[in-house]
Amino acid sequence: MIQPSELQELMNSRRSNILIDANASVEVLDITALCDAAMLAPNHKRTWPLRLGVVQGDARSRLGELIANIMASQGDDPSKVERTRTKYLRAPVVIVLGARDGDSGQRSRENRYAVAAGAQNMLLAAEARGLAMLWSSPATGANDAISEFCDFEHHTEILGLMYLGYAAQSPPGVERPSTPITWIS
Ligand SMILES: Cc1cc2nc3c(=O)[nH]c(=O)nc-3n(C[C@H](O)[C@H](O)[C@H](O)COP(=O)(O)O)c2cc1C
Repeated sequence: MIQPSELQELMNSRRSNILIDANASVEVLDITALCDAAMLAPNHKRTWPLRLGVVQGDARSRLGELIANIMASQGDDPSKVERTRTKYLRAPVVIVLGARDGDSGQRSRENRYAVAAGAQNMLLAAEARGLAMLWSSPATGANDAISEFCDFEHHTEILGLMYLGYAAQSPPGVERPSTPITWIS
């Protein structure tokens, strides 16, 4: 069993980092371990809502082009559209996290929370393996296209596109506020 101080240290040291070496590949074993870590998060009613798409190689450009074309068709800022075409080439691996929809609004929300918990497991597992990761949001309007790209079921919600690789540089630190606790007795 790991010591509480070791877990604390892991959580303290994890930082979102997009300063990734795009040319340093990540072992399949490491990618799989991160996906398995996400699968270990709790989910309600055993709905197992997590869906994962591991995007590598040329597929990163295809994903960028797909999202950029949707953004262009919506009239998004042209400079953002152009940046999006190549943005997934910034890391050797992009892991898409999806949450299956539930049979009610409440179940869909719980599925989303389960996948978000999985995302944090994944971030910590990456940190423990010396890998850099950044959770990025999908572009507005691109949910269904990304889901289809990853061969996920209809109505799967895309929670994040996780850039993964080895750090090229350390990210700047983030100043955190004190923990907002209401003590009630
Ligand atoms: C739901 C979610 C969506 C995020 N989307 C983005 C994003 O689109 N782009 C980005 O640069 N960072 C994104 N982040 C990362 C946060 O910006 C980052 O966690 C925050 O700056 C705190 O840094 P830290 O993770 O090092 O504590 C996202 C984080 C979460 C939880």
